[in-house]
Amino acid sequence: MSFTPTLLAWYAEHGRHDLPWRQTTDPYRIWISEIILQQTRVSQGQQYYERFVERFPTVAALARASEDEVLRLWQGLGYYSRARNLHAAAKQIMEGGGDFPTNYADVRALKGVGPYTAAAICAFAYGQPYAVVDGNVYRVLARYFGIATPIDGTAGKKEFAQLADSLLSRTAPADYNSAIMDFGALQCTPTSPDCTQCPLCESCQAYRQGLIYDLPIKAKHTAIGERHLLYLFIHDGERMLLERRPAGDIWQGLYQPLLVEYQQPTPEAAMLADIHKVLRQSKGMAIQTPALQFRHVLTHRILHLTCFAIHCPTLPHLGNMQPVPFAELDNYAMPRAILKAMEQLRIGR
Ligand code: ADE
Repeated sequence: MSFTPTLLAWYAEHGRHDLPWRQTTDPYRIWISEIILQQTRVSQGQQYYERFVERFPTVAALARASEDEVLRLWQGLGYYSRARNLHAAAKQIMEGGGDFPTNYADVRALKGVGPYTAAAICAFAYGQPYAVVDGNVYRVLARYFGIATPIDGTAGKKEFAQLADSLLSRTAPADYNSAIMDFGALQCTPTSPDCTQCPLCESCQAYRQGLIYDLPIKAKHTAIGERHLLYLFIHDGERMLLERRPAGDIWQGLYQPLLVEYQQPTPEAAMLADIHKVLRQSKGMAIQTPALQFRHVLTHRILHLTCFAIHCPTLPHLGNMQPVPFAELDNYAMPRAILKAMEQLRIGR
């Protein structure tokens, strides 16, 4: 049997048919699920998906929401521009009359929707013949067909897109796309594919040539930037100072405590001297030492965080920082790294 029928047969037996976004053809729900799944694995994504569509069951409900509420539901997933784009696209749809677009070009024109998401929506919601190409698809195709073209270059993108399109089942595009995703996630996994149990093994080029662990090929290593962040959790035992992060950087629109950013690793003593400069006028302030220090990894960055809890009997006035009562902290979307620091420093409880 050739690739596509074998894959579909595998899916019928081993696929994850009960995933909630496979129980619907509502393009809104499929869109939400695909954007969430670009951020996280299926097991965690399922909870976010359920919460999101329960709170915002329709495009109209999402469009009506405040950005803060959308970000709060997204909290912990990272890449918050995706949540902001969802919200903006929902408004875009409502402005155009409220009907979800039904063809590829119009779906693709929604804010934050690229070729992958547009293909997924058109195939899963409308049964249209668009093949998805994501990380799973690159891996499965590169291995099975023994393709060494780098997947992150223009030539590779084109080659894989054409191949994926030529393999797509025209009668069952939705099942085909689900099948290749599940096959990549469950069978042809990045580091531990189980080739002995694989129905495609006999005709798999990577398997025949011993290249399973060499394919797919990436040309560039992603540049990793490192950042050194000092966070001051200034509180009076009942309230804590927070500000909204500005546009154009990580964590846009989320809330954070007072930040001092350094261009290089900095000794704790130098940081403490800076803290005294910033908070000089604050009477009775007590800095909890030692600082909490940890590393937090984002997609293209490593953050080195140093966090101090600082008790000030009278909260100082500092730029845009606003006092937030501990009981209301849940209403402020914060990055996961900040929430983790608050828990470890035992602030806000
Ligand atoms: N990953 C991305 N989209 C997915 C989907 N629709 N089903 C399972 N895993 C996915």
